[in-house]
Amino acid sequence: MKNGLIVSKIKNGTVIDHIPAGRALAVLNILGIKGNEGNRVALVMNVESSKMGKKDIVKIEERELNQREVELIALIAPSATINIIRNYEVAEKRKLNLPEKIEGILKCPNPACITNNDVEARSRFIVISKLPLVLKCDYCETTLTEDEVLRQILL
Ligand code: CTP
Ligand code: ZN
Repeated sequence: MKNGLIVSKIKNGTVIDHIPAGRALAVLNILGIKGNEGNRVALVMNVESSKMGKKDIVKIEERELNQREVELIALIAPSATINIIRNYEVAEKRKLNLPEKIEGILKCPNPACITNNDVEARSRFIVISKLPLVLKCDYCETTLTEDEVLRQILL
């Protein structure tokens, strides 16, 4: 970074870098971080990036991500890089892979959809486009756009 570090390096934890500008809060929501957990969290928004114009960064100390969290981040921040930090070093750099199906996380916008009326039913969406993100309900074929996905995640 040309202008030096905005926030210091972390010792152990996770750095989610190259998040599309403005989406750091959605990433925090996916991780369920409210700020009262006690561990240090750094949020950097709208900083210059050579690769993508502007970007956001989230750094979380003493926390590694599970598979579901990684899948959700892939939905709304496919350009992000997940860096696992151990003893100040980048121990692992994970690329995101958007799954073909998203199950049990998002809600179908169609009130008549079986997934909104049967307590046993789990929502299931098929990814029909990655950029821009478009999902389709596997039961009623209602489409879900990127804006709607972000809205649901930010709730
Ligand atoms: N980082 C950190 N604490 C550390 C090590 C790295 O906060 N102890 C952060 C860096 O500031 C950077 C990210 O983790 O935002 C990835 O680090 P690194 O791979 O060293 O940076 P780059 O080579 O710029 O990453 P990329 O290849 O993803 O652009
Ligand atoms: Zn549906």
